[in-house]
Amino acid sequence: MTSSAQTEGRPSTGSAEPPTGVGVGLRWDFLDELLKRLESSDEGALEALPPFWEVSPENYMRRGGYIPESLERVADRFPVITHGLQMSIGGVDPYDDAYMAELRSFVHRFGSPWHSDHLCFCGVDGKILHDLLPMPQNLGAARHAATRVREAQDRLGLPMAVENISFYVRLGHEDMPEVDFVNTVLDEADCKLLLDVNNVYVNAQNHGFDPRAWIAQIDMDRVVQVHVAGHEWRPEDELIIDTHGADVIDPVLDLLTWTIARKGPVAVILERDNDVPSLDTLMAERQKVQAAYDAGLAQREDP
Ligand SMILES: [Fe+2]
Repeated sequence: MTSSAQTEGRPSTGSAEPPTGVGVGLRWDFLDELLKRLESSDEGALEALPPFWEVSPENYMRRGGYIPESLERVADRFPVITHGLQMSIGGVDPYDDAYMAELRSFVHRFGSPWHSDHLCFCGVDGKILHDLLPMPQNLGAARHAATRVREAQDRLGLPMAVENISFYVRLGHEDMPEVDFVNTVLDEADCKLLLDVNNVYVNAQNHGFDPRAWIAQIDMDRVVQVHVAGHEWRPEDELIIDTHGADVIDPVLDLLTWTIARKGPVAVILERDNDVPSLDTLMAERQKVQAAYDAGLAQREDP
């Protein structure tokens, strides 16, 4: 199959109606199982799959062979939203030209309605730390991030959504709470928000605030996507660690319901990065998230 045939029928970037409902983050762990299911004629097996997938370009860029070919087969059947891991929006190194050029080609190839990455920095002096490190919560840092988001939007040629992260320490001089920092970036960059309700919950527990009050201060018109995930309570550290390695707990599902009641239909993604279960088990977990999402829509006062 040629690459032009592979992309036939896919939406062009930004032009398609964005997906709504509950999708899942695509992971290599269940790629074989998913491809088998796509080839099967069992309608029930296909119906259990999510309506769309979230894909991290860094897991597919700069490599050839089975993994990127498998993604092509998934994208032939499902809408794909891209979610980056290492743009380092809050970093001080200039963007890597080769990375940005390849990312631009990737997001357009798969017709993503926007590209998201984290409101954090993840490297310095050309070194990528593979971690999502918090920025100082002050006006200078927010303006710096906003300038970088605008540059990314220009270089990718599509809207950017920034994601609120979970963090365990606060860095540098701080002159505003996290939610004001996020809102300042959104306003100054005029960009979208990927609202991770699990990250809000984790930070609320670790830093002591009300997660609903945090979300209530967000302009819901900026929210284009929502994340949910599982985490781990470590009593010895008196901290919740955002492992993405467990089922989503009920308080986070309740927070999703509360958020959807205010937002309405949106693209929700279930993230799972550690202890990834079988596809069937993950799809059962997706159904729980779907029920929380549907409950939010049912509670919506002004649909
Ligand atoms: Fe997330």
